[in-house]
Amino acid sequence: MTDRYTKFVSSGPGKAIAKQLGLPRPTRLRRFSPGDPLVTGPVLVISDGASTADADALASALLSLDLDVRRRADAIGEGRWGAAILVATELPRPVDLPAIELGAAAKRLVPSGRVVIIGRPPAEADSREAAAARNGLDGFMRSVAKELINGSTANSLVVSGGVGVTAPSVLGTLRYLLSGKSAFVTGQPIAVTSEGEASDDAERPLAGKVAVVTGAARGIGAEIVRVLARDGATVVGVDVPPAGGSLAEVINEVGGSALQLDVTAPDAGERIAEHARRRHGRLDIVVHNAGILRDKLLVNMSQDKWDDLMAVNIAAPLAMNDHFLELATAGELGESPRIVSLASTSGIAGNRGQTNYAMAKAGIIGMTRTLAEEIAEAGGTANAVAPGFIETDMTAKIPPIAREIFRRVNSLKQGGQPRDVAEAIAFLCSPETGGINGGTLRVCGQNLVGQ
Ligand code: NAI
Repeated sequence: MTDRYTKFVSSGPGKAIAKQLGLPRPTRLRRFSPGDPLVTGPVLVISDGASTADADALASALLSLDLDVRRRADAIGEGRWGAAILVATELPRPVDLPAIELGAAAKRLVPSGRVVIIGRPPAEADSREAAAARNGLDGFMRSVAKELINGSTANSLVVSGGVGVTAPSVLGTLRYLLSGKSAFVTGQPIAVTSEGEASDDAERPLAGKVAVVTGAARGIGAEIVRVLARDGATVVGVDVPPAGGSLAEVINEVGGSALQLDVTAPDAGERIAEHARRRHGRLDIVVHNAGILRDKLLVNMSQDKWDDLMAVNIAAPLAMNDHFLELATAGELGESPRIVSLASTSGIAGNRGQTNYAMAKAGIIGMTRTLAEEIAEAGGTANAVAPGFIETDMTAKIPPIAREIFRRVNSLKQGGQPRDVAEAIAFLCSPETGGINGGTLRVCGQNLVGQ
């Protein structure tokens, strides 16, 4: 989808006009292409005094990823940082945070640079001061994200006590956050609660896995198909029969297989699993992406509109998961099953005209939390991804002025791309993210709603 405004303010005359009028000038975000380095400059690792041992351990692990890691803020003279990582795992009190040192590094980030803060859950703190420090980091990180410019992002990892800072889940999440894969993710805390497994092949972490993506014929679903295939998975794309032509085109690009199926069919879960097993011998990953909009104010909502949306957006994933969970429990969804479902920031903040959509998408978040506990027993994870404003056919239908407003009300001042959502999903499907379970990752550029 074209974002004409961004094109205009990036052009010579447009740039000058926007500058004069003080209009937002969105930066072209760094997005991942195979072969790209993780970051585009040296990586600074700093810590508060009490967290030095963890910072040392993390710095050595990052060196082995071939990053140019430095421990001192003055180590690059007048140069620019690709990323600044603040390790605050043992932060004893709020006053001990080396905030000013981080600020100095943030001032000298490259465009699309990264700030990552690593802390521990406030609920696990053993004193009020530590709890205040840990929770304080959350507000600090969200504010840093709102202050950064030029497409840079700030996010945090909240790592549970038993998990070391060099655990596969921590390093895998760091790799995602440092890379262009997380271009539209900012202001987000990511909880890591167990170690996860290192990937044998960092370039193709999903090699040997079979994934199913619903609503795969266009938009975000089509992009999920492409990214999962790029990461090594064999992909089954599902969509309704009228979308069969475009579904076939998407699937032909990646060499998986297509299944024309309405996900509201009572036996949709069984048919998907049976198709995957018959055609590809197994099923490991399920992405519930199919979704529809039926916007109306509640006072004008018809029963039909309400029912149609509920059937596709929440009743279908719930029903299919009954079957997928049965398979997982029987060991028939691979060794580390993954279920990722599409939520929405509307499900977090609510949205005028979207009572039905928000009910369903908040339902997805609730379903995911409970499913996570159940599937953990089978060695799997269930997570949700909540996109904000993404440039797709769905959002192209929003009236122009409202669309322009939705696009700008986030810290990156632009809409995200389907690719950004797909990258988040592929990240949550990788073996390394076994330590992330039951969460909802927002891909929204730190949308101002629901913060
Ligand atoms: P889209 O409308 O472009 O694509 C949705 C796909 O799902 C279509 O190919 C459609 O044929 C398919 N589908 C619809 N009903 C189906 C059914 N009963 N059975 C099988 N397939 C069905 O939508 P988009 O924008 O790509 O969204 C994908 C997901 O992301 C949806 O769940 C949506 O709610 C969610 N989302 C999108 C956002 C955005 O800004 N575009 C924001 C937040 C969430």
